[in-house]
Amino acid sequence: MKEKPWQGRFEKATHEEVEKYTESLSFDRRLYRYDIEGSMAHCRMLAECGIIPQDDAERIIGALVEIRQEIEEGRFVFDPSFEDIHMAIEHALIKKVGDIGGKLHTARSRNDQVCLDIRLYLRDVIGTVRKGLADLMAVILDLAEKYTDVIMPGFTHLQHAQPVSLSHHLMAYFEMFRRDEERFSDCLKRVNILPLGSAALAGTTFPINMELTAHYLGFDRVTRNSMDAVSDRDFLVEFLSASAITMMHISRMAEELVLWSSPEFGFIEISDAFCTGSSIMPQKKNPDVAELMRGKTGRVYGNLVALLTVIKGLPLTYNRDLQEDKEPVFDTADTLISTLRVLTTMLPEIEFNEERLSEVLDDGWVLATELADYLVSKGLPFRKAHHVVGKIVGRCVKEGKKLTDCTLDELKGFDEHFGEDVFNVLDVRKAVERRRSAGGTAFSRVIEAVKEGREHVRRLRESLSGDGRR
Ligand code: ARG
Repeated sequence: MKEKPWQGRFEKATHEEVEKYTESLSFDRRLYRYDIEGSMAHCRMLAECGIIPQDDAERIIGALVEIRQEIEEGRFVFDPSFEDIHMAIEHALIKKVGDIGGKLHTARSRNDQVCLDIRLYLRDVIGTVRKGLADLMAVILDLAEKYTDVIMPGFTHLQHAQPVSLSHHLMAYFEMFRRDEERFSDCLKRVNILPLGSAALAGTTFPINMELTAHYLGFDRVTRNSMDAVSDRDFLVEFLSASAITMMHISRMAEELVLWSSPEFGFIEISDAFCTGSSIMPQKKNPDVAELMRGKTGRVYGNLVALLTVIKGLPLTYNRDLQEDKEPVFDTADTLISTLRVLTTMLPEIEFNEERLSEVLDDGWVLATELADYLVSKGLPFRKAHHVVGKIVGRCVKEGKKLTDCTLDELKGFDEHFGEDVFNVLDVRKAVERRRSAGGTAFSRVIEAVKEGREHVRRLRESLSGDGRR
């Protein structure tokens, strides 16, 4: 068993079970790049401020470069008795350069170091997620452009409500994902702050220059309170929350894909490449990918609640409970990034069945509002018009016919305001076209929305083409 850095005060070695129970190396090793990047910046700053000699700093940084390479080439031995990635790397450093390696930990503690690492990691993740969302939005725009002309029933209560343009339905998701991206961009502002130098909790006696470290690492500023800096994980909660909301949106879309691909709806056909079969029923083609998106959303919600619960009872400042922040964050980041990627690949492979969509519109119930609006245009109060049309619908249902089958005489029997021109409004295409209010489904509005959306994605991609630090 290795000697611990804190062994000075201890008489007994750590129990084997405790080593296993407390180690985080098995999962925080993925932070190695950030740990090394942070250490290099810290080391440069220490030398710049005259806290350690320049020569020592150069040797330390040289060894850190070697360690990074060893890890990347799979030559580094991750020994769990080192507890976490910070100690594993520090140990390797001291092995390489001897005692001067121990100088790196001047004016810092693992408490601020771990916060720094996770902030660096999250900054990268947020960049990837925002790019993923931009790609997803672009694919939705492609579909919306392809189906501008196609009409489908819009639903409320999962019942046919009014006819809408299929593109309008798709663009509703575009708006959700646009807001999601904005949430991540906002979260980044609170992630991109340097905590290193807060040390264990109270700051340090050494004349460090945190702004310089922040500058080396591309952070916007430094933390304002060292105790907050080492205890705070709310930026992680924000990330988990923005991720949960994004997955919620993805899950709603996935649910529609599942429904729409059922024979009862028959609105879409998902490519074979994104479905699986049954081991027993040869006829089955299941939308498993969409189902898993819906299912994984549950786990992502769980991760948010897990971290909120870990933090809620913690006295200031650092408590070991905080080590439990990493697994939910890693799991959510991995799940969200892969889900975005798969959804973006799957969507262009979906075929809409236009024939089926017009077939389901054919019963004409979605036109009931048109009839009511027509009567309003003839001077009836809307409530009265609604009542009249309700009666007409009731009669049609009883007689097993469609609204569009009614003759003018029949309609006049319900209300004298009906005239020949009523048949102009009893048309799904016109019903869509006439809804020109802001954000409405009119084809002209949807075309505008797609155009505006393209411009939004173009600007977003441009702003993301840098290093993702803003
Ligand atoms: N592995 C620890 C974590 O993830 C690092 C910080 C440890 N600090 C301490 N005082 N034990 O939180």
